[in-house]
Amino acid sequence: MSEPTVPEPHYRTIIEPHRIKVVEPIRMTTRAERTALLGRAGFNLFTLAADDVLIDLLTDSGTAAMSAEQWAAVVRADESYAGSRSFFRFEAAVKDIFGHQHVIPTHQGRAAERILFGCTVRPGQVVPSNNHFDTTRANIEFAGAEAVDLVIAEGRVPSSQHPFKGNMDVARLEALLAARKADVPLVMLTVTNNSGGGQPVALENIRAVSALCRRVGVPFFLDACRFAENAFFIHQREPAERGRPVGEIAREMLRLADGCTMSAKKDGMANTGGFIVTDDDALAQRMRNLLILTEGFPTYGGMAGRDLEAIAQGLYEALDPDYLTYRARSTAYLGERLLAAGVPIVEPPGGHAIYIDAAQLCPHIPPPQFPGQAVVCGLYRTGGIRSVEIGSVMFGGGQNSSAAAARLELVRLAIPRRVYTQSHIDYVVEAAVELFAQRNKLRGLRMVYEPPVLRHFTARFEEI
Ligand code: F0G
Repeated sequence: MSEPTVPEPHYRTIIEPHRIKVVEPIRMTTRAERTALLGRAGFNLFTLAADDVLIDLLTDSGTAAMSAEQWAAVVRADESYAGSRSFFRFEAAVKDIFGHQHVIPTHQGRAAERILFGCTVRPGQVVPSNNHFDTTRANIEFAGAEAVDLVIAEGRVPSSQHPFKGNMDVARLEALLAARKADVPLVMLTVTNNSGGGQPVALENIRAVSALCRRVGVPFFLDACRFAENAFFIHQREPAERGRPVGEIAREMLRLADGCTMSAKKDGMANTGGFIVTDDDALAQRMRNLLILTEGFPTYGGMAGRDLEAIAQGLYEALDPDYLTYRARSTAYLGERLLAAGVPIVEPPGGHAIYIDAAQLCPHIPPPQFPGQAVVCGLYRTGGIRSVEIGSVMFGGGQNSSAAAARLELVRLAIPRRVYTQSHIDYVVEAAVELFAQRNKLRGLRMVYEPPVLRHFTARFEEI
């Protein structure tokens, strides 16, 4: 792999390091159409038809544009049920980058979580992380355990400029382990910290968590979905690591854990897929047994051979320094332009997304009326842009009370990998700035249908 690219000092523009070979039309709708569509969708953009969306920033998951090399690998794939050569290529790539003995394929990240927790977590236990992602939390709770978030204090303050706001609060983790070690089946750490604003975790922090877990004898797992973006932030921001090749940082990071869960829909640059890695032979055996029951044979785990091929190639492309430079720069560009217009966001910009601080943007809408969801609906109505609420719709309510609020009311603009150009992003900025100017007109929402779990996917609302 080549050394990280230092941009030529006289060229300020960092371009998309690819050109376009295949295009997919997107469709503009009128404001009146969007208002009607929003009502029919129960003000929940998950239930919209994607064709009614102009710029889709719902997620960076499974939405990447694949490269010519990935498509070529798709055609070369071997679809044999057992022992497919595509599996061995996938396994070799994962072992090379992740550095663990057992590679267990799953159809996506949450299947990896379900299988790992199904084999390790018992009712009444507690699983700490910096911030659990929603599916991680739900799978831990489904196993009867408690998911605890121990991100550093700065990670809870949207305006804090700390360079690694995804860091684990190691002192609090140590205190939890001292008090309840027997109840902690494993420690997780999410890189980058999606639910905490897509903020990175420092290598120093990963080393400290790893050392602590080894000292007390508790397994340490990374939720490694965005491992390449996290490694790039370490390369850029961590003084002791500055300039170190990003692939080398990623390899160290991933080896500091005893295992990882991975959604290949993020830094696997693939449209589906996932995996678990571990060095624990007995655990791997138990997980493969559960895998056969629910996902598939251990050489495909719910994926087609072509998915295994796309991931084997995609993992390397995610670590390409030119790609990562462009990726971080284009996300930061959106954040900087919003900030310049006065739109409050979580700072500094994260890796895969920009998070608007909806609590600050519309203080007239209290958390029980879902200010984040109001902004999500506003962005769609204004510009046909689909974003996602990460606030009281996603994390509030549940078993406690449907009025319970989340700590932060965020709206995530997630950037699909290699999909949109700078002019698409300029359009998003224009629409967001227009919405910002009209923010006093945004109305709160009432949840009129609340499903029992992961309510944000299918809840329905009415405008107040
Ligand atoms: N962990 C993290 C940190 C994630 O961001 C996700 C998915 C998962 C686990 C689960 O992976 O979707 O393949 O089952 N995040 C997507 C998102 C859905 O939009 O952020 P999955």
